[in-house]
Amino acid sequence: MKPTPTASRLPSRVTLVDVGPRDGLQNEAAPVATDTKVELVHRLQAAGLREIEVTSFVSPKWVPQMADNQAVMAAIHRPAGVRHSVLTPNMKGFEGALAARADEVVIFAAASEAFSQRNINCSIAESIERFRPVAEAARAHGMKVRAAVSCALGCPYQGEVSLDAVEDVVQRLLDIGSDHIGIADTIGVGTAARVQAAMTRALKHVPLAELSGHFHDTYGQALTNIYACLELGVHTFDTSVAGLGGCPYAKGATGNVATEDVVYLLHGLGIDTGIDLDGLVDAAAFISTQLGRKPASRVANAWLARRQHTLETRP
Ligand code: HMG
Ligand code: MG
Repeated sequence: MKPTPTASRLPSRVTLVDVGPRDGLQNEAAPVATDTKVELVHRLQAAGLREIEVTSFVSPKWVPQMADNQAVMAAIHRPAGVRHSVLTPNMKGFEGALAARADEVVIFAAASEAFSQRNINCSIAESIERFRPVAEAARAHGMKVRAAVSCALGCPYQGEVSLDAVEDVVQRLLDIGSDHIGIADTIGVGTAARVQAAMTRALKHVPLAELSGHFHDTYGQALTNIYACLELGVHTFDTSVAGLGGCPYAKGATGNVATEDVVYLLHGLGIDTGIDLDGLVDAAAFISTQLGRKPASRVANAWLARRQHTLETRP
């Protein structure tokens, strides 16, 4: 029997964008083989992910781990119905994205001046001007433009970030032609009430269908914050397989909330994701083995332990 959402106000379906291959792996100090990245994307697709942030077209001097962006994009299978996005900080990045036939580009402006300088070496206003031609060119080529508002819940350099600053960046990103806005807790400090307040500000300008949450899980609040968003009807979230990642310019921040943990929560609420948790755990186990550690996902570890137990106790 198909489960029904336990609370009628919650969405009945949620879209998860797995950003692990990009936001996750960008933070790995040791090189990750191109084949491993490609295999990870394939396993995510096999598990039912229909939106995957594959890589970034940023300076290889700034983020060496993403230097094989073209090779990864050229090697992945591109089944119909799966959207592959890439991060593009400027027109040079956009040209790479276009050559790689990305379906969608991701731009990112901070709600904190200090973070903007550290992350992309320019002010918020300058970053918006850099993104303007990227958004224009992407739309001219029929590519969707997803925009992230970094440090919307707090900044590693300046601390507090005001709701006015968040709303201002949301508006500016919409003004330059962004199709979608993601509210990003880059350092995972946000708590539920503040997340709802930031989302409510964004919803003054962005339709529900084009608003998402991007929560790093540094303080262990991400699942609660996602539930808080569901209560507002927000039904798109960025998540990262095995909880991979962090941002190279937000020291100490952990990865995005693990896709497995979010899928477990959502399926428990009777919310459809189209994702097969068993296959997703396989993808998490695969990449974690490649990286030489356990998944940073409670659900993946519990699932793997249960599988092992079943094997050991099988008559
Ligand atoms: P810059 O040094 O100010 O730029 O960097 P520049 O225009 O002076 O160029 C310097 C060099 O980089 C030149 O090469 C350019 O050609 C090259 P050189 O002449 O020295 O040999 N270059 C590029 N190469 C490849 N691809 C490009 C590109 N652009 C310039 N696109 C820049 C400015 C933005 C490029 C740099 O600061 C950068 O790449 N930063 C990396 C930012 C990044 O990837 N951060 C992590 C991702 S953001 C994130 O994780 C947050 C998010 O998840 C949401 C959240 O959690 O908040 C999205
Ligand atoms: Mg991020």
